[in-house]
Amino acid sequence: MKFFLDTANLDEIKAGAALGIVDGITTNPSLVAKEGKDFKTLVAQICEIIPGPVSAEVVSTTCDEMMKEARTLSKIAPNIIVKLPTIPEGVKALKICTAEGIKTNLTLIFQPLQALIVAKSGATFCSPFLGRLDDIGQDGMALIHDIRHIYDNYGFKTEILAASLRHPMHVVEAAKAGADVGTMPFSVFKMLLNHPLTDIGLEKFLADWKKLQA
Ligand code: G3P
Repeated sequence: MKFFLDTANLDEIKAGAALGIVDGITTNPSLVAKEGKDFKTLVAQICEIIPGPVSAEVVSTTCDEMMKEARTLSKIAPNIIVKLPTIPEGVKALKICTAEGIKTNLTLIFQPLQALIVAKSGATFCSPFLGRLDDIGQDGMALIHDIRHIYDNYGFKTEILAASLRHPMHVVEAAKAGADVGTMPFSVFKMLLNHPLTDIGLEKFLADWKKLQA
């Protein structure tokens, strides 16, 4: 499973890149707004730091307007993925993007038929939001299992990008369910390698080694 960071914060992206295990970045209008910077400049900077896929979202709600944004965004860097909302106008724009060779990430997916439709329409990524389903008492992970099953039935190449991951167990479960990508906030990413027994074990190894030197 690939690891994407779900952030538009350059310090977090640089810290993740330094570790060498960040495969891509997802942003959304809320994450970009938090940074208070010019959108296109910020996205260009992110694309320079991370060579993998970088999702930048449109903010229009009609197909024509989305396509204007999509064409502009896709010219920022070769690794830009245009993020489109999974609404009828978004699917219309998706089909045009597919025909024009613009890579896409269909966002705000909350049920399997949305995922099936965007795969049929050539989406590069589909983004089911697990955490937000859990928030309203539904089983977010079941959606990943359903989408995996459907995509495997028909051999769709659209990558399942498990989004709205809130803690490391979401990442583990998404990997077990066969998600191609997990995107997570930096706070979750930082916890991926942690285990207290690793720290205790290393401390003991080094203390024993020190004794030998003495
Ligand atoms: O970027 C999309 C998604 O990961 C947002 O997550 O935590 O706002 O539901 P969240």
